[in-house]
Amino acid sequence: MSKTATPSEVILDLQKVSKSFPRPDSGGSYKVLEDLTLQIRRGEFVALLGRSGSGKSTLLRIAAGLIQPSAGIAQSSGLPVRGANPDVAMVFQSFALLPWLTVQDNVEIGLENMDVSDEERVKRALDAIRLVGLDGFEKAYPKELSGGMQQRVGFARAFVMRPRVLMLDEPFSALDVLTAENLRGEISDLWESDEFPADSVLMVTHNIEEAVLLADRVVILGANPGHVRGEIRVQLERPRDRKAKPFRAMCDHIYTLMTNPETKVTQFRGEGAQPTYEFAALPEARAGAISGFLELVQEYGGPEDVAVISQQLRLHSDELLTILDAAVLLGFANVSQGDVTVTEIGSKFAMGEIEESKQIFRDQVLKYAPLVALIHRELQEARNNEMKSDYFLELLDQYHSEEEAEKQFYTAVDWGRYAGLFEYEADSKTLNLYEND
Ligand SMILES: Nc1ncnc2c1ncn2[C@@H]1O[C@H](COP(=O)(O)OP(=O)(O)OP(=O)(O)O)[C@@H](O)[C@H]1O
Ligand SMILES: [Mg+2]
Repeated sequence: MSKTATPSEVILDLQKVSKSFPRPDSGGSYKVLEDLTLQIRRGEFVALLGRSGSGKSTLLRIAAGLIQPSAGIAQSSGLPVRGANPDVAMVFQSFALLPWLTVQDNVEIGLENMDVSDEERVKRALDAIRLVGLDGFEKAYPKELSGGMQQRVGFARAFVMRPRVLMLDEPFSALDVLTAENLRGEISDLWESDEFPADSVLMVTHNIEEAVLLADRVVILGANPGHVRGEIRVQLERPRDRKAKPFRAMCDHIYTLMTNPETKVTQFRGEGAQPTYEFAALPEARAGAISGFLELVQEYGGPEDVAVISQQLRLHSDELLTILDAAVLLGFANVSQGDVTVTEIGSKFAMGEIEESKQIFRDQVLKYAPLVALIHRELQEARNNEMKSDYFLELLDQYHSEEEAEKQFYTAVDWGRYAGLFEYEADSKTLNLYEND
């Protein structure tokens, strides 16, 4: 498992999930979750933040298959969740150990009804116990252990299942501050190592700092009824330094969002926490024009005078120069003293079959057009591989006039479309990752 790679495959997929509980007194019902959509992908650590009563535990229980949604669909590994979901294992705030069983028996119990030999079961339990640092305590009973050690058993009991998604429901909040800090640090180290016994983590917490310390994404729930307000990507380098400015600023940003339930959830734009955009502007040339230009130069069969091409294409020379700039940026052409030469890759692009041309354009754009590469990367990481244009326009606004920011954006969209990297729907102002990507 790689945790630095872009998360890819969707494991847990909750689509428009709602949940109501009957009211004990009136006979009516009480809506806890409404239209909640959330995906957990392989390799990511997701934190779920929300106020008490926003339905966080309910959501975990639906994903685990312990209860059914009233509406919507819960899927895991592509299949509808029916009964206990074999892809997940859970760690509870309250530890939930069986007091009459030893540490080892508590850990083994989850494997008992599974197709695992006695020998294998013991081996896996001892491995899990070692992983949480409890070797030597195999035969102890829960009441002999401190709270921190009991929760280590809680983790071992989940680890032994080697789940695809480890679900943590406020796992540190019943522990005293120092014990919590210690265990949190160890789980964090384990996540960064190759030994972590799950593909992904979904952790419920009230603790903003804990979320920013551990998660790749922080999903913020709103209440009454519970729904996803939005999410914040945490792109801080690991291991994370709580005292570092970007870390503090990220916590402040989320704190502000949490204390203002009406505020729109936006990505944090502070130092070190947002994708940086510090590159030259894209020449505003349509991809089709670049291709046409190169073809024409090819047909002339040699270094060409810009003025001649300008006449042939009936372009103003500054339009042509923009196209030329783009061709040079993308590695398709060179210019020397007014003469244009097409590079080998430029020639293949201009003369190749459609598919080959597209592939070449895609490679060059990702290499040399940072704005296109940025949009592509962000879409790969976005929920549903979908984003609004505003996100990028706001980013560009910081570097360009509003008009220029729009031009930059539309050039990037044109190139991204031509390259088959993403689509843009102008009506809804939505960018989508291209299907075959
Ligand atoms: N089985 C149930 N029957 C009736 N109501 C329920 C049931 N389970 C949860 N609720 C109600 O649903 C709401 C959300 O509960 P849930 O435990 O999911 O919230 P939470 O976000 O985990 O809260 P906390 O942060 O306090 O753990 C609460 O008002 C709770 O009383
Ligand atoms: Mg809860």
